[in-house]
Amino acid sequence: MRIAVYPGSFDPITNGHLDIIERASKVYDKVVIGVLNNSSKQPLFAAEERANLIRRVTIHIPNIEVDTFSGLLVDFAQAKNATVIVKGLRTVADFEYEFQMALLNKALNPDFETMFMMTDTKYSYISSSMIKEVAKYNGRLEGLVPNEIIGIIRDKFSD
Ligand code: PNS
Repeated sequence: MRIAVYPGSFDPITNGHLDIIERASKVYDKVVIGVLNNSSKQPLFAAEERANLIRRVTIHIPNIEVDTFSGLLVDFAQAKNATVIVKGLRTVADFEYEFQMALLNKALNPDFETMFMMTDTKYSYISSSMIKEVAKYNGRLEGLVPNEIIGIIRDKFSD
């Protein structure tokens, strides 16, 4: 069974992330979405909240699992019996950073292959940090994040 890990901060999940998850779930037998619980970052949503948002919008995909992790990605991937790390690439701006991470992960554990999926052009400008900016100033979130979680993001900013 081919298991892939799709890691990220997902603060919050966007339509770009969801597109990669849907496509990766067709390529691999199972996709484990790894939500990074990074104590040095100050996220909008706690890691378990981010995982729950992902669970809510991926209910239609049978072969996925959502879990949080801290520490090294390669250790999480190993614990999940994965052989592949899936990453989405939007623009060349993503490339340099992703290339560095892929090489580092390979140096840490050569058993894993990083596979890149090109984002659909209609999502290439979407990022979680832009979503937070738009939400903060009450901009439209339709088309940027899954409809089911728009209210939850809005509520976070009205707290
Ligand atoms: O969505 P992001 O914030 O761009 O995702 C970054 C992520 C989670 C993939 C990356 O920070 C990561 O893998 N962190 C885990 C720590 C680790 O393994 N670091 C060494 C390789 S970069």
